[in-house]
Amino acid sequence: MTDLLGNLKRTHHCCQLRNTDIDTHVILMGWVQHRRDHGGVIFIDLRDKEGITQIVFNPENSKAVHEKARDIRSEYVLGVKGKVIARPDDMLNPNMETGAIEVLIDELYIFSKAKTPAFLIEDRVEASESIRLQYRYLDLRRPQLKKNILARHQATMAIRNYLDDKGFVDIETPVLTKSTPEGARDYLVPSRVNQGEFFALPQSPQLFKQLLMIAGFDKYYQIVKCFRDEDLRADRQPEFTQIDMELSFVNEEQIMEIAEGMIVAIFKRVRDLDLVTPFPRITYDDALSRFGLDRPDLRFGLELCEVSDIVKDAGFKVFANVVKNGGLVKAINAKGCATFTRKQIDELTEFAAVYKAKGLAWIKIKEAEWQSPIAKFFTDHEKEALKNRLDLEPGDIVFFVADQPKITNEALGQLRNELARRLELISDDTYNFTWVTHFPLLDYDETEKRYQALHHPFTAPLEEDIEKLTSDPLAVKSRAYDLVLNGIEIGGGSIRIHSPELQSKVLHCLGIDDTQANEKFGFLLDALASGAPPHGGIAFGLDRLMMLLCGEDSIRNVIAFPKTQKATCLLTEAPSKASPAQLQELAIKVSKLEE
Ligand code: AMO
Ligand code: AMP
Repeated sequence: MTDLLGNLKRTHHCCQLRNTDIDTHVILMGWVQHRRDHGGVIFIDLRDKEGITQIVFNPENSKAVHEKARDIRSEYVLGVKGKVIARPDDMLNPNMETGAIEVLIDELYIFSKAKTPAFLIEDRVEASESIRLQYRYLDLRRPQLKKNILARHQATMAIRNYLDDKGFVDIETPVLTKSTPEGARDYLVPSRVNQGEFFALPQSPQLFKQLLMIAGFDKYYQIVKCFRDEDLRADRQPEFTQIDMELSFVNEEQIMEIAEGMIVAIFKRVRDLDLVTPFPRITYDDALSRFGLDRPDLRFGLELCEVSDIVKDAGFKVFANVVKNGGLVKAINAKGCATFTRKQIDELTEFAAVYKAKGLAWIKIKEAEWQSPIAKFFTDHEKEALKNRLDLEPGDIVFFVADQPKITNEALGQLRNELARRLELISDDTYNFTWVTHFPLLDYDETEKRYQALHHPFTAPLEEDIEKLTSDPLAVKSRAYDLVLNGIEIGGGSIRIHSPELQSKVLHCLGIDDTQANEKFGFLLDALASGAPPHGGIAFGLDRLMMLLCGEDSIRNVIAFPKTQKATCLLTEAPSKASPAQLQELAIKVSKLEE
């Protein structure tokens, strides 16, 4: 037979048949999930991307087919023809969508045999993640992972439909390009034709989408791969996908509204949820002051409270000195948690230390006294002020961090999230969206001793702050906004600078002189001088959004072929060595010593 499929054409998928299909003749195709030989009758769970159907081989129905079915093992690929029958009452499975029926098989085609898989194809998989990544095609057979990938498809369909409806044009931008400064290290690709020169893979299509606005496309979008060589975490991959968009003649309000509409469309399509818009907003300053982080998780309280003014003269020198040196002392009152043990407090101290906190002072509020290594340093007056500011009541424990503002906020902000996890204050199926607005335009890089763009150098400053660019750069607020979902930044964007003069001014502020500016972004400056419309945009991290939509805790679980924490692909074993001939063509010499 040249074509094994012959006239065998699938009639149903494996999650389709119900009671109402009884007596229908059907053809199914799929993988063997599970085979049971009940002394005579063989039952197989046949699996395809939709689900599972039980098929039955009964020698009384066909001896030859039953005989053939004896050789079948897990993960064999079959085509079967048979009749839908009702399951006997004692074999009904209400937990299975096809649990009322089974298919009695008359014809069997074994398309492929399969060696014993490296792990069982089921959701309660016990294999390590590295084995699963090595055999990703097996891992992707698991229902949960398959569901995630299918949900991702639904999301991208919803995105494309929504944006197409709104008049957006999908335009591809180059992958072999020049560095786009988004704050990470570039992936470089050597050029063979121009030896010694390198392309950079885009950290985002930022500059191209701005050029498209200057070219007059008005509304652009792209679901696009971006590449960043940075330290990886559960929500960071070296290559990840952005839902990237840019619009002309709009302000922040209009962009946020369009973006909200898109998120609503995604949640409706993937989760059948009706989100309420507009999403709440918080300013960057407020977010930092109340929650310590610029991506606050607003599903729970536990707000941070500054007490620098109260403790500035306290006998506890750590606090007093920090305030004297321009630092911040902030606290969190964990209500009712005075029962925390020494061990728990030590764990939290270690946790805070990860975020560079030099210590984690605490006070347990007891009926009669304050129990704490530092309580003795406070006067009655200071204690009274702390009690009022922090709403201290018997049964509470309050944690303090004293440090430079960045560290105090980051450490206590992270501690706040950790406390919420430990105290189980977070309900799993809440989706809490918050826009964060009014970011500073710049921050100061202590190691490099220069200003840095907090987003990227093309973000517009607030009109009324432009004059502070020279007098007080750190006080300049930008027209950037981030969208945060459950404490994770899922998107960010801004109104851009569309004047070449202002762009040069901001680049100067960043320590980039005209020569460097021309070298790096001459084409953009030139384009800006050629008639640039006011424009702005936003990019969402599709992987992060899907991770949250699918209830996963790593973006690896929503990417078909992700990389490991060490930025390697265990399946293909990339990256790998280049051959001497390839290196020679590229005029590249690898100097790393062979181990
Ligand atoms: P930004 O750098 O904030 O903005 O990126 C946009 C969104 O992309 C996601 N993201 C990532 N996801 C997975 N792995 C990573 N390594 C990673 N890095 C970022 C985040 C983030 O919110 N050009 C601008 C957008 C604009 O201004 O329009 C940009 O790239 O969810
Ligand atoms: P010490 O006087 O160093 O023993 O510290 C007393 C308490 O203050 C301990 O619980 C420390 O964890 C805490 N502590 C020390 N430095 C800091 C700091 N910078 N911020 C908050 N707590 C601190």
